[in-house]
Amino acid sequence: MDKRMERVKGYFDRLAEGYDANLPWDELTERIYDELTWRCIEPYLPPTGLVLDAGGGTGKWAIPIAERGLKVVLLDISAGMLEVARRKIQERGLEGRVSLVQGDIHGMDFPDGHFDFVLAEGVLEYCADIREAFRELVRVLKPGCFLVASVDSLYYVARAMADSGELDEIPELLQERRYLDEDGVYCNALAPEDFRTLAEESGLEVLKLIGKPVLCQYLGEETKRCILGDPEKTGKLLEIELSLCGRPSLVGAGSHLQLVARKGDH
Ligand SMILES: C[S@@+](CC[C@H](N)C(=O)[O-])C[C@H]1O[C@@H](n2cnc3c(N)ncnc32)[C@H](O)[C@@H]1O
Repeated sequence: MDKRMERVKGYFDRLAEGYDANLPWDELTERIYDELTWRCIEPYLPPTGLVLDAGGGTGKWAIPIAERGLKVVLLDISAGMLEVARRKIQERGLEGRVSLVQGDIHGMDFPDGHFDFVLAEGVLEYCADIREAFRELVRVLKPGCFLVASVDSLYYVARAMADSGELDEIPELLQERRYLDEDGVYCNALAPEDFRTLAEESGLEVLKLIGKPVLCQYLGEETKRCILGDPEKTGKLLEIELSLCGRPSLVGAGSHLQLVARKGDH
């Protein structure tokens, strides 16, 4: 295995047990993020068939997809993350619908066109060769079917670096589309046009490219607490996010970029 992927695997093995409890953001941003994600997954799921959840981690998306009656293959490089997923799947009685596979997206052991839907949430950022990984995701997808994927957003990472005074790091980030995160793991970060090009060069038609989220994470802590405490305000904020997240001028402001794309029929 590539050295960079060994490091990613070790990193997620160490995180696995506490992964679900340690939210990367405040609760409001997390809630809006998850809502935007599910709205990019659910309408594109096939009525029947086999789904690949690549880099599926502890089963955050594999579980609700399986609960809709679909069969899911959850592939992940980390045995630790798979073990947590296995327990959650067992607790929900979904063993018959979700199979767990330890593997690396860069070279998957599945035939061409094997899956009716491919999901890759929060994993492309960790891939040593994002082009190769993306091509693999497209290879295993059936013609005419949907791929849904996300990646770190270049602008958001640049802004975070500026905010913590790491101005010297930004030119390299912009040049390489890659940065070393606070845990010493290399991550990819793309601009919306990079993600679109990656998809189109891999033979996909882009149906949706949104920032996820584009507003919520920039609000003050007190404002977020107040919105979270009021379901009506939370609902309004979600509606605002939904109306802004696809605007071309704002997509890059998202902390993540979310893609929905379709593979051509031939
Ligand atoms: C940030 S977590 C996201 C997990 C899940 N998709 C979610 O949305 O909660 C990234 C996951 O990708 C896995 N991963 C990273 N690089 C991978 C690779 N090249 N192949 C397979 N899995 C990988 C990690 O082990 C980890 O479980």
